[in-house]
Amino acid sequence: MKDCRNGCSAAEAGSQELAETFKAEDLVITPATVLKEKPDPDSLVFGTVFTDHMLEVQWSAESGWEKPHIKPFETLSLHPAASALHYAVQLFEGLKAFRGVDNKIRLFRPDLNMSRMCRSAVRATLPMFDQGELLECIQRLVLVDQEWVPYSPSASLYIRPTFVGIEPSLGVKKPTKALLYVILSPVGPYFSSGTFKPVSLWANPKYVRAWEGGTGDCKMGGNYGSSLLAQCEALESGCQQVLWLYGKDHQITEVGTMNLFLYWTNEDGEEELATPPLDGIILPGVTRQCILELARKWGEFKVTERYLTMEHVQAALEGGRVKEMFGSGTACVVCPVSDILFQGQKLHIPTMENGSRLASRILGKLTDIQYGREESDWTIIIS
Ligand code: COI
Repeated sequence: MKDCRNGCSAAEAGSQELAETFKAEDLVITPATVLKEKPDPDSLVFGTVFTDHMLEVQWSAESGWEKPHIKPFETLSLHPAASALHYAVQLFEGLKAFRGVDNKIRLFRPDLNMSRMCRSAVRATLPMFDQGELLECIQRLVLVDQEWVPYSPSASLYIRPTFVGIEPSLGVKKPTKALLYVILSPVGPYFSSGTFKPVSLWANPKYVRAWEGGTGDCKMGGNYGSSLLAQCEALESGCQQVLWLYGKDHQITEVGTMNLFLYWTNEDGEEELATPPLDGIILPGVTRQCILELARKWGEFKVTERYLTMEHVQAALEGGRVKEMFGSGTACVVCPVSDILFQGQKLHIPTMENGSRLASRILGKLTDIQYGREESDWTIIIS
């Protein structure tokens, strides 16, 4: 096997011949003997309740991948010097399983999460594996815990694949030991009222989320942990989320943990849905990709991956050219924006006054697919 940790591209990482990978056919399943009580889907708090089982796969440079193991959910036991804990040799993914109106369980575009996970692994110097084999193991895990997929058209089972370096040494080096595991958490609707709740944003160049040559385009825990102080300042300033700016021209890049979309009449008088391009500082979100593909298929307005700055937004607001602004992510699907606090000025974004029509249409379309109200090749039926 070619060693992807020695400089091959992310694309090669996904397509290379993988002799050294774990295989779903080798799965060992140890069922839990005590099953927990399932929570009420209407009172779930994101990421606080976990199912009865987890998937675990161990790797070492010496012996390669061990057999994947579905086992009772349990606390990890890690060496105190483990490289994930000291040097953030770590990455994760987030995807969901939905119980459809036909009672079938669907995964939504999991192949995109698997390929992004491999790209993050290359960046984190963690070992490669076969994406299809991990997806098969995840499907088996969800099947084992299938009763945890909420019987609700507004809740789902959040799947959290996690990959950590567990090198038991304080040397700053590529890990020779790693642990890939997957845990499952039933989650409720992002908006507890079931309807959109717009958020206000704190836009301050004091903090940046990502930079050229950094890890902003990978789903690595460090990107999120280091965003928390800015999030605290946003709250102290009376806002709910951070609008991440970049560069001297105050490019708008992401919002909180989400990608960002602006639906407006652009400088050339064209109706446009715009989002920043994947230039290395933007996370290639699955929902972002879905929105771009859907809007391009609708063909009703221009759809562009382009740079947007605060100056663009301010000029467009003055000219009455902003229709909607919203974030997108796995957790909420879409999240409307109502205000931006920038340089001491509160800029009102008329997303709700415009009926958040585009954001609502996208939410409706994606949830119709996820809950099986609409057939689509974006879902995999697993039972
Ligand atoms: C998402 O919504 O896609 C996220 O990544 C949120 C997660 C970090 C909780």
